[in-house]
Amino acid sequence: MCHSDPRKYYYLVLFNIINNFNMSETEKKTNRRDFLFTASYTIGAVGVGSAIWPLVHQMNPDKAQQALATTEVDISQVEPGKSITVLWRGKPVFLKRRTQDEIVEARSVALKDLPDPQKDEERVKDGKDEWLVMLGVCTHLGCVPLKDKGEFNGWFCPCHGSHYDVSGRIRKGPAPKNMEIPNYEFVDSNTIKIG
Ligand code: FES
Repeated sequence: MCHSDPRKYYYLVLFNIINNFNMSETEKKTNRRDFLFTASYTIGAVGVGSAIWPLVHQMNPDKAQQALATTEVDISQVEPGKSITVLWRGKPVFLKRRTQDEIVEARSVALKDLPDPQKDEERVKDGKDEWLVMLGVCTHLGCVPLKDKGEFNGWFCPCHGSHYDVSGRIRKGPAPKNMEIPNYEFVDSNTIKIG
């Protein structure tokens, strides 16, 4: 897929509009800031992607595929309790920096109360448990859930009413599964590579 695919911008703008719907003024300000951050990051990423394309193009097919399948994200500006959204392979990825209270809350839930039982510890990297990185795609029919909404201090999908907790696990509603954790790694303390 070409890095300058205009559909990326369309998807980015669309899910930010959806996220903005029904928010308080304070949340809207925060969301606009997130959007600008995300948009500038994405444009930057596309710019870099365009610049390296001739280089990638000369690699063998496996290596080229691998390079285009990953995205590096600067997380240095994300405050505790906040999150950003980036696009990876045309899909939104939520990166949330959780507070200690949120981590404690996620780990205090009994597995028997979860429709898709999974420990919070299994959804984050060892020693980096403040960072939750997951596909921002509802596991029911694929809408983009809203952050800081719903009954479990996590995300809420307004399409059919699925509630996710602060670990991205489904807690209530028609979605059958927790939001998916993609492959990712910490390149350094300020950079996450997705893919
Ligand atoms: S797509 Fe999210 S609840 Fe249906």
